[in-house]
Amino acid sequence: MKAIILAGGKGTRLYPITLGVSKQLLPVNDVPMIYYPLSVLLRAGISEIAIISTPDHLPGFENLLGCGSQLGAQFTYIEQPQPEGIAQAFILAEKFIGRDACALILGDNIFYGSQLTELLKSAIDRAADKATLFAYEVKDSKRYGVIEKDASGKILSIEEKPKHPKSNLAVTGLYVYPNTIVSVANSIRPSPRGELEITDVNAYYMKSDQLVCEQLGRGYAWFDTGTINSLYQATDYVRALEDRQGFKIGCIEEAAFQAGLLSKAGLQKRAAFFEHNDYGTYLKSLIQ
Ligand code: TTP
Repeated sequence: MKAIILAGGKGTRLYPITLGVSKQLLPVNDVPMIYYPLSVLLRAGISEIAIISTPDHLPGFENLLGCGSQLGAQFTYIEQPQPEGIAQAFILAEKFIGRDACALILGDNIFYGSQLTELLKSAIDRAADKATLFAYEVKDSKRYGVIEKDASGKILSIEEKPKHPKSNLAVTGLYVYPNTIVSVANSIRPSPRGELEITDVNAYYMKSDQLVCEQLGRGYAWFDTGTINSLYQATDYVRALEDRQGFKIGCIEEAAFQAGLLSKAGLQKRAAFFEHNDYGTYLKSLIQ
């Protein structure tokens, strides 16, 4: 299983902050935003990961994350010259994906919930022929892809930013696809806003009866951090939880260690690298 973190875009809703820096490198509590989606992937044991961003911002991610060996992972970096849609990621990453199934997570999405890793692992297990998306109930679903299901859980429709949503179920920025994703992404045409829409990809899998929708219930938190309000909401949530419980949500070393990708010696090395701050103290506590 391969995975992509899509971390490009313009971040116009966060201007002027994102005129000079990538949104996904902004801090959410004490780590860069991209640590959260990256730790979701690592926790599920996914180690071959492509990071896609703009030509301007890609070097920042390379400086931050390197080749991935410090986490027992392998990172590949791919440019997206223009933000021409989430589904374009699979076309850009065709060589990287090769013959494997592929997950995608948006670089500005923060997930939290105890069973998320198990749900993601189940999606990976069925990825030979089934695509999986993760839905989350929100008050105002108009801003998102919206999914409609019947009482038995069968998916009836998926619409991108509908004026009159048929449900409150928003499609979150985490997806798992079979290897056919590359040809499906190549087959769709740009929408009126000029983007290759992930909703069109999902509609394809729905029509061919290959789409599973996992609903993240009340026990989960999901934030997309695209606006100042949601960025601070996410930061407040993470801070409150971490202060209260003493563990970190977006610690990539912890995620890699728990998944068995990073050895104890590797974790020790990372703890030593950060020895002069609280992050290093936290890593050290994981070894004990
Ligand atoms: P958006 O929040 O839709 O776009 P944006 O990040 O450019 O922000 P704004 O609307 O404020 O201008 O994108 C969601 C995520 O997907 C975000 O992490 C950026 C990423 N993305 C890409 O990397 N490339 C793309 O072509 C698109 C559409 C999104």
